[in-house]
Amino acid sequence: MMANKSDLRRQALDLAPALVALRRELHEYPELSHEESETASRIARELDRLAIRYRSDVGGHGVVAELTGSQPGPIIALRADMDALPIQEETEIAFPSKRPGVMHACGHDAHTAMLIGAAELLSACREQLQGTVRLLFQPAEEVNAGAAAMIGDGALDGVSEIYGLHNLPNLPAGMAATRYGALMGSVDRIEITLEGRGGHGAIPDQSVDPIVCASAIIQSLQSVISREVSPFDPVVVTIGSIHAGEANNVIPHYCRMTGTVRTFHPDVQDKLPERIERIVQNIAEGYRCQAALHYIRQTPVLMNHEEQVKFVESVIDDTIGSQHRITAQPTLAGEDFSIYLNDVPGCFFWLGSGPEEHAEQAYGLHHPKYWLNEDCLPYGASLLATIARTRLAQLAGGPL
Ligand code: NI
Repeated sequence: MMANKSDLRRQALDLAPALVALRRELHEYPELSHEESETASRIARELDRLAIRYRSDVGGHGVVAELTGSQPGPIIALRADMDALPIQEETEIAFPSKRPGVMHACGHDAHTAMLIGAAELLSACREQLQGTVRLLFQPAEEVNAGAAAMIGDGALDGVSEIYGLHNLPNLPAGMAATRYGALMGSVDRIEITLEGRGGHGAIPDQSVDPIVCASAIIQSLQSVISREVSPFDPVVVTIGSIHAGEANNVIPHYCRMTGTVRTFHPDVQDKLPERIERIVQNIAEGYRCQAALHYIRQTPVLMNHEEQVKFVESVIDDTIGSQHRITAQPTLAGEDFSIYLNDVPGCFFWLGSGPEEHAEQAYGLHHPKYWLNEDCLPYGASLLATIARTRLAQLAGGPL
């Protein structure tokens, strides 16, 4: 007999203590992007225990596992990210990070545990799968590098659709949020180098001051961009670092800045490199500086696919109830899951991980006091497992 959806949810609750233990272990030993070797080994150990075959070192420290049913069919991919952040943990939990300056402040420890939970649920009904479920444990999400690297190593080959989730501490555990179309913004990086002519701080006429030029560029990027893009198309240009000079009475030769550019529409993202280049070059010329702009496109706008969002909503409604599903607010935070969605249809959604009450006041993702309500773990595991199994059955046209 095939397990029905509520069975999967009940089985997920049975798994909860094991998922909590795994998540806490990962939380104590976080690893930065590109350094997730121990996390990958831990994942491999779980897959060995479940007798699920996998490939290691995919796109760096990524792990790709596959569960194939007895009937042929398409491949559905589920993805979890696994890296941590360079943040010093400031929570009061009993199992804080044992690594100074490194913290799972985005809950990727929980995402990894949820996908292991989904693997366990799916392995229990493996025979009934009408196709293949591919599990992507992705490294280097925080630096927007892992998804592209995994695709380069074949992680999406043959995949029909892909699904993933991110925890959201401002939404209570037991709830989920979906959105049609754009869910998260594009992420680009800019690096600007200004070259002036260094000299004595008291004799500016014999120098070319790159700091004054930099301040004009920073101001103009804010105002000019906002004058060139419709107010209905959100754009953020933030200069996050600026380095120039050592002494109070010396005009430096160079000024270097880095920044992040976010948009919510692919066509706006496409137009920004030319606009920023024009502003930087023309202002620099006005101030007699040489400017070099390095514009690095990192991730596209995360665009959910309509049919797949509709499907995920039906699974959420069947699994945790439509009264626990809301429409997600758009955000200009980025996610490299968007790169998968450029290649294959799919849906990315939010899973509540906050306290039951006053979740709106909870510390957000990437905060040193970020806290995750572990009640979300079985919800995540059962939703992912149900999405994969039900979708395979739908695509095969067979009974659910
Ligand atoms: Ni994250």
